[in-house]
Amino acid sequence: EQRRWEDEHFHAGTLRFGARDAREKSKKAAKTYDVIMDDEIEFVQAIKMPGTMKDKDIMDKVSKKFASSRHETEDLSEAEQKRQAIEETQRSLPIFPFKGDLISAIREHQVLIIEGETGSGKTTQIPQYLHHAGFTKDGQKVGCTQPRRVAAMSVAARVSEEMGWKLGNQVGYSIRFEDCTSERTILKYMTDGMLLREFLGEPDLASYNVLIIDEAHERTLHTDVLFGLVKDIARFRPDLKLLISSATLDAQKFSEFFDDAPIFRIPGRRFPVHIYYTKAPEADYLDAAVVSVLQIHVSQPPGDVLVFLTGQEEIETANEMLLERTRKLGSKIRELIISPIYSTLPSDLQAKIFEPTPPGARKVVLATNIAETSLTIDGIVYVIDPGFSKQKSYNARTGMESLVVTPISKASSNQRAGRAGRVSAGKCFRLYTAWAYKNELEDNTVPEIQRTNLGNVVLLLKSLGINDLINFDFMDPPPHETLVLALEQLYALGALNHQGELTKLGRRMAEFPCDPMMSKMILASERYKCSKEIITIAAMLSVNNAIYYRPKDKIVHADTARQNFFRPGGDHLTLLNVFEQWAETDFSTQWCFENFVQHRSMKRARDVRDQLEGLLERVEIPVVSSPGDTIAIRKAITAGYFYHTARLTKGGQYKTVKHQQTVMVHPNSSLFEEHPRWLVYYELVFTTKEFMRQTIEIENLWLLEVAPHYYRAKDLEDGSGKKMPKMLGKAKEDLTRKY
Ligand code: CDP
Ligand code: MG
Repeated sequence: EQRRWEDEHFHAGTLRFGARDAREKSKKAAKTYDVIMDDEIEFVQAIKMPGTMKDKDIMDKVSKKFASSRHETEDLSEAEQKRQAIEETQRSLPIFPFKGDLISAIREHQVLIIEGETGSGKTTQIPQYLHHAGFTKDGQKVGCTQPRRVAAMSVAARVSEEMGWKLGNQVGYSIRFEDCTSERTILKYMTDGMLLREFLGEPDLASYNVLIIDEAHERTLHTDVLFGLVKDIARFRPDLKLLISSATLDAQKFSEFFDDAPIFRIPGRRFPVHIYYTKAPEADYLDAAVVSVLQIHVSQPPGDVLVFLTGQEEIETANEMLLERTRKLGSKIRELIISPIYSTLPSDLQAKIFEPTPPGARKVVLATNIAETSLTIDGIVYVIDPGFSKQKSYNARTGMESLVVTPISKASSNQRAGRAGRVSAGKCFRLYTAWAYKNELEDNTVPEIQRTNLGNVVLLLKSLGINDLINFDFMDPPPHETLVLALEQLYALGALNHQGELTKLGRRMAEFPCDPMMSKMILASERYKCSKEIITIAAMLSVNNAIYYRPKDKIVHADTARQNFFRPGGDHLTLLNVFEQWAETDFSTQWCFENFVQHRSMKRARDVRDQLEGLLERVEIPVVSSPGDTIAIRKAITAGYFYHTARLTKGGQYKTVKHQQTVMVHPNSSLFEEHPRWLVYYELVFTTKEFMRQTIEIENLWLLEVAPHYYRAKDLEDGSGKKMPKMLGKAKEDLTRKY
């Protein structure tokens, strides 16, 4: 069947995919089309998202000015040229004309909501404006939170460059397990989770003069909790300035929450974006995305491409697919620069996405949700939106949390499209149908607080002395049952007593920037005299999915290398083995290379491990080792993760002990073919089924030893299958009655 390109559907001249005339124009082009023709994607039904950019001249003027200033400065020094270019860029940002008004508004009001379209300069410019206006005199800090670590790092890097300072001095960032600040830091970017932890050491955040809760619209769990906390400290610290900054939409809601704080709106500048939908649903959106990139590349005028994917694995796959196909096309196409960006990408590679595209080439950025609002990459004209993101999903009944690839909301979808209209009129290709957009996407993304385990946050709030969680000032309160379940889990872990009060163990757990189960595992290593091994395992788990390297052309070798690391007992022990072998080579890069292990991830694990070692010292646990005693190690793990126990049932399936949910051993696990009776897993990932990632084999009796207040002997009878362990009735009643 011949595919037809219905040009009449499109606005004049906007889309030329596969247009026959284009194919006939040159033989070279025709050949190029033939190569990718088989799986060309058909887009239909263009709609236009109007731009706010009425006066197109503004941008033209800016770019002309930019060009001419470049010309004039030809014989200036390189540094001077760079400085001028930076200033020129700063002046061109939509926020720039409002600098004075913004500072006056901040002086006048304690709390200000700032709303401005993504890319208007909120994150990079406001802290600099504050600095110039004297808000950082006497070394007082401006703190700016980001929901994502990559954003915190890259924005800090950008701002220090703009200010001409070295990163980590006056401008710094702080993310979990990585503190790039100094005594002299006055502009501090950090993840929202890190600011939350700062409350533990400095409950009134006295060292900050201004706090910016940025990307507030993202409504991450930590940002939502921060709202309540900063609102509270603003009351008893009248000198503190509080700025809540958000992309669009939610400003009114933020204003209401912060006692009707005024809203400062930065008018957006956006060129129109044409939106295209696929004619039929795409069976494989990854493949469709790759094909669409190539279609754009061969048929569209210059401009970079931004593709939204759901995570590192997908990005790496797409990267390889693109490399393979462009290699096949060879010199028939212009250069295509592929730049991936995701949270665990090392920072030197992250910087690459901001490098200007050389003339004649085209850049394609393969990004996670991070590029939706947190990062603005200049030069994007085409957006490809498969319509998915990876989201945490939580079942408060079963307490099961997993990462699931989920359709995005309409709000997200429009944010993504908007990324195409920053530098000129753009195009957004949605890899779903117009019908799906209209009927299947929710209007807004559900705030994270309503779909995640709250154990971490509850422990933190309890450590801050906030006991009455039901009445905590949440913008959107979490479901009651989620809160109760978090209390129950913390009780089972021993972090709370039956009155719901923090125990000594709980206080020590809160010292660790880890989730409660991991903190408990680390603390339990004291009893089992294997703290050295356990912190290594904890560090390796925290870089979990990025340890092994599996190049397409060496899959067999890579898999063999991975399997050679296997240790009896399970994956945690395998991870320990990888780290220990690496340590024995004195942390050799060559060793990593030969064993298909990712050196960067290992380096990160080593950093994390060093920090955990420091924290052990703080809670006065000696670093001791029980070499080879895998039972001690596995018992310590079980002491933290006993909630995550699964048992082999008669039918040969695994079911979680508590809720009888069917779960599978991940095919990458060393236990995949072992079928032990009892397992403890680190996390669940949902792809086609619920998979347990990182599992160890345990003995059921250990559960009585490590969690006697949670499991009873009869719950753990082998083969009985049915009985579910319950928290002792009385204690649970006390807990729920109180809260
Ligand atoms: O926060 P908002 O979305 O309003 O804008 P921003 O992140 O401050 O971005 C302002 C400008 O800085 C954009 O043109 C970005 O491309 C640029 N930027 C950059 O070049 N490198 C970064 N690491 C971050 C921003
Ligand atoms: Mg921003």
